[in-house]
Amino acid sequence: MKILAFETSCDDTAVAIVENGNKVLSNVKLTQKEHNKYGGVVPEIAARLHNENWRETLELALKNAKYNIDDIDDIDYLAVTKGPGLQTSLLTGTTAVSFLSLLYKKPLIPVHHVYGHICANFLERNENEIKFPALVLTVSGGHTQMHLWKSSLNIELLGTTLDDAAGEAFDKTAKMLGLSYPGGPIVSKYAKKGDRHAIDFPKIYLTKDSLDFSFSGLKASVYRLLEQRTEKINDKFIADTCASFEYTVGKIFEKKITRVLEKFPQISQVHFTGGVSANTYLKQILSDLCKKNNCEFLTPKKIEYSTDNAEMIGAAAFQLIKQNKNIAKIQHIDAESRLDLEGFLNETKNI
Ligand code: KG4
Ligand code: ZN
Repeated sequence: MKILAFETSCDDTAVAIVENGNKVLSNVKLTQKEHNKYGGVVPEIAARLHNENWRETLELALKNAKYNIDDIDDIDYLAVTKGPGLQTSLLTGTTAVSFLSLLYKKPLIPVHHVYGHICANFLERNENEIKFPALVLTVSGGHTQMHLWKSSLNIELLGTTLDDAAGEAFDKTAKMLGLSYPGGPIVSKYAKKGDRHAIDFPKIYLTKDSLDFSFSGLKASVYRLLEQRTEKINDKFIADTCASFEYTVGKIFEKKITRVLEKFPQISQVHFTGGVSANTYLKQILSDLCKKNNCEFLTPKKIEYSTDNAEMIGAAAFQLIKQNKNIAKIQHIDAESRLDLEGFLNETKNI
């Protein structure tokens, strides 16, 4: 089964063709560099660029898989991110795909963005490598969530961020240090040269049993550190701040995962996904933690499957259609900037 998938929920215009939920036949992503100078995504700019870029992205994705724009006969389904995300960004994907669905008479599958990140771990893996129940930690610019993944469409939210997402904290820390956007990759690069114990940032674990997260205090601590500093900021200071920041985020993830593993001893796999799962240091410490707990640790096979991409939307659409054929229709898909994952999956099951 071949799925042509679109993802336009934030600042990347991405199209991919995925076969049987795990084999990537083609993938194209146009990243919008225009946001870099603003230190974050500007919704109006993102919307304009998605509109300018979607057709070229689609044509390239088809060309790479040796299709012609007017000959996509053996594509079985179209899929698109329905939400959550920036409404004006989502609209490009949902409108383009709804139109293509009418034009080519191809059924259409709406996909939840976080479910896409979760299913990124299917890419380039045999389906039976995913073992339920699994703990999934999804960390991106908009989400920091832990789910108990019981079976394909059966997911329970265990904890979420009460304020900033961890990716957002990376981005804001980078901005405060005068580094570029997105902050994750550059903070991680500086962190490699810094001392992880140079600054003792607060590790916010919330109440004793809480599985939720809070990163606004950490962000505020970086702000205060910079405000109190009288000397000029140099590379050593930036490296130490980045290293200590990354260490703190890692400690918080370790603590929360440990709490979940204690509460649900039946979990045998821990999955780390979303843009922040591209981080080498965090992958290493979480992998070590899982080893200590006799758990398998899974993270997307390629960095490009961690950050936003259309392949994960194809992988997720495959899981959805496999569980319930009724979800695919030739219809218009509405974008929904706020979309609850458990509600979305329940609705999908019951169509
Ligand atoms: O999943 P994603 O591409 O988009 C959203 O759904 O938000 O995640 C983007 C986030 C950004 O905050 C970015 O700074 C972060 O992922 N990120 C990283 C790394 N690469 C991207 N954070 C830490 N280390 C990285 N190597
Ligand atoms: Zn994302």
